[in-house]
Amino acid sequence: MRIGVLTSGGDAPGMNAAIRAVVRVAVYENMEVVGIANGYSGIFNGEFRPMDVSSVADIIHKGGTVLGTSRCDAMTTEEGIARAYEILKARKIDHLIVIGGDGSMRGALALSEVGQSVVCIPATIDNDLGYQDASIGFYTAIETILDAVGKIRDTSSALRRAVVIEVMGRHCGDLALYAGLAAGAESVIVPEVPFDFDRVKNKILAGKKRGKRHHIIFLTEEQLPAYGLAKDLEEATGVETRVTILGYIQRGGIPTGVDRMNASRLGAEAVARCGGEKNSLAMGLVDGRIEAVDLETALSTEKVFNRELYDILDKISI
Ligand code: F6P
Repeated sequence: MRIGVLTSGGDAPGMNAAIRAVVRVAVYENMEVVGIANGYSGIFNGEFRPMDVSSVADIIHKGGTVLGTSRCDAMTTEEGIARAYEILKARKIDHLIVIGGDGSMRGALALSEVGQSVVCIPATIDNDLGYQDASIGFYTAIETILDAVGKIRDTSSALRRAVVIEVMGRHCGDLALYAGLAAGAESVIVPEVPFDFDRVKNKILAGKKRGKRHHIIFLTEEQLPAYGLAKDLEEATGVETRVTILGYIQRGGIPTGVDRMNASRLGAEAVARCGGEKNSLAMGLVDGRIEAVDLETALSTEKVFNRELYDILDKISI
């Protein structure tokens, strides 16, 4: 039995812990493991390398991915998928383990439709996969955001300022919501809730009246231009308002204990699914348990926004 493993798309802290678990469990089960470097691109470029227990030593605590990653356009075309499948067949990869987010899983699904056995492990800081609770990297990104916000809060308080903090997430408000709640932000602007300028403005005004020295507004990327929002809020409230775009800092860093643990469990369980004939699966943490979900079902499961958390934040952050 030969397993191929790759990481794909945007990296996420904890990917290395998942690679390590895959390799170590596979070796334990007397399987052969081949690492494919630089995501799906590595298939086309012939970047296959045998992995053993030593090749994943000393990586559990590291951010990024030792295999490298990429966003691979060829995997969005029928010809590309067919070619990737032929290469994997020639390399005798019985099961391919893909560690990545929704785009990576779509590539895996397409591969499974032409005959490749695939098992996916969710890894993305965005946490935008609806079939599961927490993808690898999400909780680390929250800690990174909280660390940055603590510093921004110091300087905002010193100067009695408001700050718009833009976080990642693309079409998913989870990073803004969870980090916003944990940071005590006054407002979070997320794609799932219609933007209400007056509500954000009024929270700043109410805080100002109470003598509050800082005002924190979380903004999910791609929703509104952060600098335009800051200018409008400053004009409407009279409170000097600055912008911090956290950017790629959110994707790096030492994975938290929770991410390392989840990655290890997901990696181990993914290998356990590689015994049979052919799979098309997405592993995931569902209500605290590791489950295997049919990949097509996983990708068509709508992500449900946690309105309860949003309402709690709205009530307690005044
Ligand atoms: O990894 C997910 C993500 O961080 C999104 O939140 C963000 O929009 C995107 O990746 C940025 O990706 P790139 O590395 O292609 O700029």
